[in-house]
Amino acid sequence: MSRPALVAPPPAWRAGAASLRDVPGLLRDLRRTRSLRDLRGRLGHPPAGQRMRLRAATIRPSGDVDAFRSMMSLFPAPVSVVTALDDHGRPRGLTCSAVCSLSMDPPLLLACVNRRNRSLEAIRRSGGFVVNLLRAEQHAVSDTFASASPNKFDGVGWEPSPVSGLPVLADAAVSIDCHLHAEVFAGTHTIVIGLVRRSAGAEADPLVYWRRRYGTWSGAPTGVTTDQQPA
Ligand SMILES: Cc1cc2nc3c(=O)[nH]c(=O)nc-3n(C[C@H](O)[C@H](O)[C@H](O)COP(=O)(O)O)c2cc1C
Repeated sequence: MSRPALVAPPPAWRAGAASLRDVPGLLRDLRRTRSLRDLRGRLGHPPAGQRMRLRAATIRPSGDVDAFRSMMSLFPAPVSVVTALDDHGRPRGLTCSAVCSLSMDPPLLLACVNRRNRSLEAIRRSGGFVVNLLRAEQHAVSDTFASASPNKFDGVGWEPSPVSGLPVLADAAVSIDCHLHAEVFAGTHTIVIGLVRRSAGAEADPLVYWRRRYGTWSGAPTGVTTDQQPA
């Protein structure tokens, strides 16, 4: 397999020049930010049966971490544990909701990992990683892998992937073993792009994170199906 590509941010991004290009837009955004306190309250707990009016929400180009976090909490996200091996061959892993499909051919997916997280080094050293989608009832596993515990794998069944030796969680709904295809620096995170080399699993209700709570997918409430699919 080829070495992973490394894409560093262009100097202009680091200097924030990208956001300064649209000065009228920037000023407009800053004016709208005055309604942000009101927005924060509403984002947390909308009155029952009422839709949240999100059009008032404008996040400043940088700095307003809380508002951005609140906004992103409205996106339901499947919860996975991303695993790899450290330089001593010990299993490492983190709870990761920022996992997304990227390309069909070749089959690529991505995971966004904060560079503070220790598992990133293990992913790099392994030259790959496994995305283990958790089942609905595995919220305790999610909490364990989101912690700073040095013994996250205690009591968690796992076995080495037959193709890479990387840790595959025994009870995960789906496990996807990836070769590290590329890394992209973006803000506080590194996007690790994986080329899928093996996947295994069965249909199961997934663990989902939404509005800072665990839940699951309970079927399509609209009852509407579609013949369209992501390309
Ligand atoms: C529901 C949930 C989702 C998370 N998603 C991510 C994520 O997408 N990327 C990330 O870097 N950290 C994410 N975290 C935080 C990490 O799991 C946490 O920082 C962990 O302690 C990192 O472990 P490590 O330092 O051993 O790698 C998430 C935590 C939770 C509870």
